[in-house]
Amino acid sequence: MKLGCCYFPEHWPEEMWADDARHMAEIGLSMVRIGEFAWSRIEPEPGRFDWGWLDRAIGTLHGAGLTVMLCTPTATPPKWLFDQMPDMAAIDEQGRPRGFGSRRHYCFSHAGYREQSRRITLALAERYGAHPAITAWQTDNEYGCHDTVLSFSDAAAARFREWLEARYGDIGALNTAWGNVFWSMEYRSFGEVDPPHLTVTEANPAHWLDYRRFASDEVASFNREQTAILRQHSPGRDITHNFMGFFTEFDHHDVGRDLDVATWDSYPLGFLEQFWFSAEEKQAYLRQGHPDIAAFHHDLYRGCSNGRWGVMEQQPGPVNWARFNPAPLPGMVALWTLEAFAHGAEFTAYFRWRQAPFAQEQMHAGLLRPDNSEAEAADEARSAAEAIAMLGTQEAGKAPAALIFSYEAAWVCGIQPQGRSFRYLELAYEWYSALRRQGVDVDIVGPDSDLRGYKAVLVPAMPIATRIFADKLAALDCPVLIGPRSGSKTECFCIPGDLAPGQLRELIPLTVTRVESLRDGVWESGVSEKEGGWTISRWREDVSSELTAEFALNDGRGIVFANGNYRYVAAWPDRSLLDLLIGRIAAEADLKLTPLPEGLRIRRTGSHIFAFNYSAAAIDTASLGLGAPVLGDAQMGPASVTVWRKA
Ligand code: GAL
Repeated sequence: MKLGCCYFPEHWPEEMWADDARHMAEIGLSMVRIGEFAWSRIEPEPGRFDWGWLDRAIGTLHGAGLTVMLCTPTATPPKWLFDQMPDMAAIDEQGRPRGFGSRRHYCFSHAGYREQSRRITLALAERYGAHPAITAWQTDNEYGCHDTVLSFSDAAAARFREWLEARYGDIGALNTAWGNVFWSMEYRSFGEVDPPHLTVTEANPAHWLDYRRFASDEVASFNREQTAILRQHSPGRDITHNFMGFFTEFDHHDVGRDLDVATWDSYPLGFLEQFWFSAEEKQAYLRQGHPDIAAFHHDLYRGCSNGRWGVMEQQPGPVNWARFNPAPLPGMVALWTLEAFAHGAEFTAYFRWRQAPFAQEQMHAGLLRPDNSEAEAADEARSAAEAIAMLGTQEAGKAPAALIFSYEAAWVCGIQPQGRSFRYLELAYEWYSALRRQGVDVDIVGPDSDLRGYKAVLVPAMPIATRIFADKLAALDCPVLIGPRSGSKTECFCIPGDLAPGQLRELIPLTVTRVESLRDGVWESGVSEKEGGWTISRWREDVSSELTAEFALNDGRGIVFANGNYRYVAAWPDRSLLDLLIGRIAAEADLKLTPLPEGLRIRRTGSHIFAFNYSAAAIDTASLGLGAPVLGDAQMGPASVTVWRKA
């Protein structure tokens, strides 16, 4: 794994560049990402390109032995361009244009902006496509950041109508699919259909689902226009895009198909603060991030691009954008880096090289402080570089368990939550964590992936379970754990004629006759004779079946039903129930569990076993029985990493 950083030569006097490049190499960095926001410097006036500074910046970095990843600058179109066609702005759900003055001020559907995006991509590709320093490209920057996937512009509305026409062929089919007879929502032509916003009360969920599918396709096709140009003019270079954390607004599997390497931006402390974690977890992992945040995304994005992936932006210290922005514990930056290494990353780049003293992100740490002195993270990058060199290349190897992650499932649950705490992403994360707490390595894969060869497959929820998907599960002979709401909708967002779980019924003969959601803080309990108590919360289904429940609530209502190698969970299970289920699956599947102390996580590569102590206390790993480590100590300090060679 290479180490690198995100660098903005345009932010610093040219006299500093050579020293920066030398300093990067001295720390152990070997790649630099540049250019993602530099359009106003590359093309200061329409059609007048200023390549000189970029030529020199690339040359200087290259001269110091660094490889360069160049970005297309389309996340920040310059003011002159915005003024030329002000309707390129996305329109928010309230109908307001999203103006100039920050970034991502464009609508994916605007034909004029698409043309500009192709034009600037071509200009960069023609100039630098064959440059020896350029080994990779990044398209744009963080598609969807700042809530920018959905736009309700005229351009989007027009393309949505075309998209619908291509999907349904005639308007009668759309009316039937969506159930538009309800509330007299029937249309006479595609031209009459608008985006699903500014309605008096909620719009039709089928309308929303198609709008989300359409918007996701718009991101993918915008990206594909850039990758096509880059492939033609810069052959042999990897193309990537930096995805975000906990983000499901477009189908990343789809976009990933056009990339060579999927990358993501890892900000564990910001994510802990901004997402659903409990007050206790926020306290316990304040300066480390929850132990599964980084790994979840490593394993998710590894599944988005044929196994090739990296960390494009690694948090080096406090960020500026969360509600509160704590500093990492000493050791965490090195830990996060080595964890990416253990999960198979090709590179980890720190964001950013030097903290900017001006503009929006002046409170965001870098490897250097604004005065050019080294910040805390610089030494940790150095020590991570040394550890990586010492450990040598790691082979990733296939994980024993697969967890199926579906962006469409996230949209369905988001469009019609039915209970406000039914969050698909959180459910998937909980199921993933349950495996990781027991020391199981996991591949998070898309619904279209090849599932053969896994010892266990988990499907946290798959509301739209297609024929193809049901057949894929039916072909498995390993334990398969299927979560609530699976098979509960058709592809056009209706309840299946034979009720849930629809096509999955052939795997598990039961019918969901009624569902209920439960307010926060409410739970119901069950006890398993040998294994102790557990609870369910948020969601529960009434199930009618000849099967005897494997786990039932205290009043007898069944929650888990098993049929051969398939299990269905008719509720939102708590951690204890998940642990019980994983215990049973492991016994059936010869899946080795390694129950871990709170805060400890392990990851195996082909040659080594890595342990990461996310807790703020010491952990003794002697009980793991791994012998003498090759890196770190068996008695692990807070925020530390220990590595053993496999027997
Ligand atoms: C990312 C973004 C970067 C920078 C960073 C700050 O979302 O890609 O440009 O803003 O966050 O943490």
